[in-house]
This record gives sequence, structure tokens and C-alpha cells, in this order.
Amino acid sequence: MKGAVIAIDGPAASGKSSTARAVAEALGFAHLDSGALYRGVTLVALREAARRGLRREDPLQVLDPETILRTAEDRGLMLQPDGAGFAAYLEGEPVDAEIRAGPVTAAVSAVSAVPVVREWVNSRLRAMVRIGRDVVVDGRDIGTVVFPDADLKVFLTAAPEARARRRLSQRGAAHDPALLGAETEALAARDHADSTRAVAPLRVADDAVRLDTTSLSFEDQVTRIVALARPRFSPG
Ligand code: DC
Repeated sequence: MKGAVIAIDGPAASGKSSTARAVAEALGFAHLDSGALYRGVTLVALREAARRGLRREDPLQVLDPETILRTAEDRGLMLQPDGAGFAAYLEGEPVDAEIRAGPVTAAVSAVSAVPVVREWVNSRLRAMVRIGRDVVVDGRDIGTVVFPDADLKVFLTAAPEARARRRLSQRGAAHDPALLGAETEALAARDHADSTRAVAPLRVADDAVRLDTTSLSFEDQVTRIVALARPRFSPG
């Protein structure tokens, strides 16, 4: 049995995760955050490097990807069903807070660019969907690579300045123009790097619905996606 899949992709700070979670709640689906698996693999790598006395900010300098993935399997890295979503576990303990903390965030980009890591994450995501739950999956390559036959694909976009504003608000930072300018530039640079990188570049699937959220409220963007989804999943 295979569950229904809604793929939500988009650039950094486009609000994919929070949108995916709200859409999943509205439809009674589970929210599957693909970034959490990349973050989990990165945490495994950082812990393993530390265990071996090889403390580095970039664990790929001291561990090869195959060792990192074998360690992830041995130590039981997994996403387990948890309420309306999935929670990350490692060594039998929940690690959701740790995978979102500074050290993992600093190292995850390099780890997620390694092809064998991407294959490992993708096969786990597909296995979770084969179990049969209906899911909303968010990421960068969900509609293009991971689930090219997803039932609905949405690509979220927003102008870099709008995303920078949202990101600063989330951090509770003051809206001073210099800070906003720097954050906007950083996001534009990340967009460029993400869409031109050799491995799994960010691109819009041909059959994705593009949703520009620059002037939409969070509630409006969720409502629009739910409205796109309902006719496809409601009987009759
Ligand atoms: O969405 P996030 O910040 O939790 O993602 C963490 C990292 O993983 C980020 O560098 C982008 C990368 N990622 C990816 O390359 N492909 C995905 N499907 C999801 C995340």
C-alpha cells in the first residue's frame, strides 16, 4: 500500500516546513520534513567525529560518507511517527532540538551535497511512504527527484526581501535596514548556490503549481494549498 504524497519544495526561508505542517494538519496527513533526515545524518557525523577525538566543524574532513551512513544505521537514526508528523531519534533518544541547533545547521549544507547521503535519505523517505501513510513532504527536490509521481506538487517562492523579513521576525531580531539588507543578500546568494549546485540543484518540477507568497499571509498560503489538494483527495 502506498500513501498519497503532497510535495512542497522551495528555496531557503520560503516557509516550507511550517506550511507543510499546517497543510498536513488541515488534511489529516502526516508532515514529513526531509531536512530533518539530512540534519540527523549530520548530527551522527558530528557525534562520531567527536567520539573518535576528531572534533571538526566540517565532519566530512575526517569521516567518509560511507562511514557516516553505516554509523547512522548502527546507531538507529530514524524518523518515528509522532502526532501529526515524525520525530527524529538517534540512539533511542529524541534529537529534534539538537538537529536544529547551531553546529548541525553549520555543517548540514556540505553533508546534504554528498550524492550517497542523498540516496540514503531518499530511500528512507520512500520507504516511509510505502508504509501507507498520507504525507506532506517538504524539501528541495521532493517533486523532482524523490517523488516525481507525487499527487500534488507545490513550489513556494517569495522575493528574497520578504523571506529575509520573515526570517528576522522568527529570530525576534529588530528590523533595522542594515540587518535586512544583509539577510536579503545572504538569501539571494544561497538561492544562487542552491540552484546552480551540481548535486540535486533546486529546480521547479514541470508539473508543480508555483505559489508566490511575497504578499500572502501564512494563513492564505496554507488555505490555497489545501484548496488545491482537497478535490484530489476527497471522494466524489
Ligand atoms: O530545510 P532544512 O533547513 O531543515 O534543510 C537542512 C539542509 O538540508 C539544507 O542545507 C538544505 C538541505 N536539504 C536538501 O538539500 N534537500 C532536501 N530535500 C531537504 C533539505
